[in-house]
Amino acid sequence: MAVRDGGISRRQMLKAGGAIAVAVGGCDPIGAVGAFAASPMAPRPIASPREVLALDQGWRFFEGDIPFPEILSQDDSYDNAKAGKAWGAAAPSFDDSDWADVRLPHDFVSFQPIEADANRAQGYRRRGIAWYRTVLRFDPADQGRHIELQIDGIATHATLWFNGTVVDRNWSGYNGITIDLTPFATFGDDLNTLAIRVDAHAMEGWWYEGGGLYRPVRIVKRDPVHIITDGVYAHPVPQGDGWVLPVEVTAYNSGKNPAAMMVVSTLEDADGRVVASGQAPVSITPLDQGVARLDLGVANPRLWSVEAPTLYRVQTRLMAGDRCVDAVTTTCGFRTTRFDKDKGFFLNGRPLKIKGVCVHQDHAGVGTAIPDALWDYRIRRLKELGCNAIRCTHNAPSAVVLDLCDRHGLLVMDENRQFNPSPDTLAQLEWMVRRDRNHPSVILWSVFNEEPMQGSAAGYEMVRRMAHAVKALDTTRPVTAAMNGGLFTPVNVSQAVDVVGFNYQQDKYDAFHAAHPDVPLISSEDTSAFSTRGAYVTDKDSRTIAGYDDPVKDWNTHRAAWKAIATRDFIAGGFVWTGFDYHGEPSPWGWPSNSSFYGIMDLCGFAKAAFHIHQAQWVTDRPVLALVPHWNWAGREGRPVKVMACGNMEEVELFLNGRSQGRQAVDPYEMNHWMVAYAPGRLEAVGYAGGKVTARAQVETTGPAAALRLTPDRDRLRGDGLDATPVMVEAIDAQGRPVPLAQDMVTFTIEGGDIIGLGNGDPNSAAPEKGTRRALFNGLAQVIVQTRAGSRGALTLTAIAPGLKSASARMAVEAAAAPTEQATAPSDLILDTWYAAPPAATMEGALAYRDADMTAWDDFGTRWAHDPQTADGYTLCSVRFTPQAKVGRQGGRVAFLSLVGSCDVYEGGRLLGRKTAAPPGPLTVALAPGAGVRRLDVVFRTPAGAEFGFSRNVAVRQA
Ligand code: GAL
Repeated sequence: MAVRDGGISRRQMLKAGGAIAVAVGGCDPIGAVGAFAASPMAPRPIASPREVLALDQGWRFFEGDIPFPEILSQDDSYDNAKAGKAWGAAAPSFDDSDWADVRLPHDFVSFQPIEADANRAQGYRRRGIAWYRTVLRFDPADQGRHIELQIDGIATHATLWFNGTVVDRNWSGYNGITIDLTPFATFGDDLNTLAIRVDAHAMEGWWYEGGGLYRPVRIVKRDPVHIITDGVYAHPVPQGDGWVLPVEVTAYNSGKNPAAMMVVSTLEDADGRVVASGQAPVSITPLDQGVARLDLGVANPRLWSVEAPTLYRVQTRLMAGDRCVDAVTTTCGFRTTRFDKDKGFFLNGRPLKIKGVCVHQDHAGVGTAIPDALWDYRIRRLKELGCNAIRCTHNAPSAVVLDLCDRHGLLVMDENRQFNPSPDTLAQLEWMVRRDRNHPSVILWSVFNEEPMQGSAAGYEMVRRMAHAVKALDTTRPVTAAMNGGLFTPVNVSQAVDVVGFNYQQDKYDAFHAAHPDVPLISSEDTSAFSTRGAYVTDKDSRTIAGYDDPVKDWNTHRAAWKAIATRDFIAGGFVWTGFDYHGEPSPWGWPSNSSFYGIMDLCGFAKAAFHIHQAQWVTDRPVLALVPHWNWAGREGRPVKVMACGNMEEVELFLNGRSQGRQAVDPYEMNHWMVAYAPGRLEAVGYAGGKVTARAQVETTGPAAALRLTPDRDRLRGDGLDATPVMVEAIDAQGRPVPLAQDMVTFTIEGGDIIGLGNGDPNSAAPEKGTRRALFNGLAQVIVQTRAGSRGALTLTAIAPGLKSASARMAVEAAAAPTEQATAPSDLILDTWYAAPPAATMEGALAYRDADMTAWDDFGTRWAHDPQTADGYTLCSVRFTPQAKVGRQGGRVAFLSLVGSCDVYEGGRLLGRKTAAPPGPLTVALAPGAGVRRLDVVFRTPAGAEFGFSRNVAVRQA
């Protein structure tokens, strides 16, 4: 724990919280589902047995817990101990017909109000427990295939039941899970129920974490012999004068016979040209894994770098003779990385200072349920900033984040959430490395952040084990840990990692380097400076912090933190806390502040002054120049206003209304400042290099707001129901200039799409982020719009505000295939507690039993045909049931999926339907509305020697 200022650590101060004080011959790879736009490296679809189906629709959601009924009886206790007999809301027959329909990704916490008595760190939103249920229909042709459920993340503790059997328990919100559903799956009209209880009371962080099924979910159907999930490891390394791509493929055999197959891998460049290929045999005994290894030699590949992130495709096929059994596409990039003890980080043999930011995984309006296209926006904003790296704090990110970093050229420090070498948490670390080790963007594995045990022998031993687990899966990248103390104790974590991560403690860089000259160092986290976007006066009462980057206590500023890194070659670079504001951790204040003040950008990705500071420090390939603050200071005429110019040239001169306020040599770390007596008009900065003007920037005093303006981040969207874009909302004056202080309330309407969230970057606003209204905050707000599946034409957003001219933005919507979805259905009520009356000689005799108490009769099981009666006659079978609420209100139908024998179906005195043919066949009868307990009677004609009964399920379905 870093101790600064009078013995109070930064962390203690934060805690105080209130005051400053392939597919080749192949398949659809997993990455294909959910892609927001065709990526240049999107797999080329080739026919394959592998099917990847999105499971983001057809979910029913209940907010709150549904306690399990207490088990009291002997029979219930017995059933409770059995597979397939789950109780309560986990049971297939549970009535979820009145639950809300939701679509994934779904962060249920983001819908909660922001309330003073909820948890501060989590942004004052209640978390709690929730249930999700869906019903899957697998095609009869899927029988014999391997069926896997893939969930990329559930926050937080989750228990999952499939067809009434617990199939997994997962205790982290940040790792993906895969579940083999094959043994439990049923096919055709025998539907499959998936029930998930999510306990988001459980927290793993001190920031907003969201809750629920907030990342993609899929069903993947493969041959019983297949490449396992994350089963292709293909990451190139230099060898001799060229390169080698070692490919390691893990296959699994859930079939009954041993398999001997060939793994064939080809490497393709961005144009699809095959540049190398190879093959290796693999043998896999039933219910085991087999591993094939092969090397692809590549003489002279195009390198991946942050400026030119060239990617290659690896197409890996599993072949049984000429038949492609399974195929997977992965991407890779050719690059070398090295951390040098004296000279910092090297990419492709050239020094590269890491100009990084830390990022959490939430955004305004949507919480953690971030569409891929919104991640793309965030990553592009970081590239504009001049940033070349992100640290995924403090957890593994959604898979799309790394795909985008590969594609846009950002380096990644990938971080594990839990610090613990126990089997459960080591498995989470191993999952992360397995999933992420093909990404050229990933350069460092981080095993923890600021763990209290970091300076102890226990911490050292824990990291030693975690680092060992990482190395077993990837030896090409160093392991690090983000330490905020304990660096100088006799035994500490720095001795168990390859690169030592400094969180803050910048005053110790030199001492540590002197004491350990052979250890490479990086600033894993620095800065933590506060600011409010668009504000230039600090005011405790309104909980506003000016954006001039003034120091708070003795904490570092953006400028000083970077200077400490930039002026030391042995520090590989740093990660600013943080790139974007995030919900929760609203230091230095508490309520009503509910989101952080740390961002270089606000919650929406709008630039704060820190954005311009870092651009000036980080951008080297073009001139950048910006002026701070705005120039609307009515009432302060003649009084001094601090002006800051952020530029990366040699000199900068400031003019007010054409009059020079002085020319200064650019200070690349501190920026340039003037005190200017305010007069309305135009403030201009002119940047010079080599005596020539290289850039200009200006701010002008605007008139009052006259109109609204909407600017979508992208004006062409894909009509796949996934694509989304943030739309910037501004107020402009009569001359079209953005009015920096506008706070107008704006109301939105949309056609051809949906609003999925709103924000304005105000960390003190408790306004809902869902709905159709949002006030501007210091001149800006943001609306996130999403297309609908199957749409084409246009999506139009319109904004109105009292007294302002309204605005609308039209985004073209192109027809685009939505991802193929797993078929889902409403929940069934399965009728499986039938009783059979004694056989009767006549129909009338059998029907007479309809009034009798059935529980004295024999149980009559479903899903098989019963033995024949010994004499000709009639047999009545009855069941009691309570229909689902919706069926009770609206009526429904009873589906006998397979009736053996001919029969009549009655409810009370009413004949509902008749099956006349004896051979097995389906029958569906209509059920009238009616709540409460009801009874169905089926009279079978049972000639001697003929089987009869229900050879498949009997289900009560919604109409
Ligand atoms: C760090 C911590 C971050 C965040 C930050 C706020 O110590 O690693 O997660 O809490 O402080 O300044």
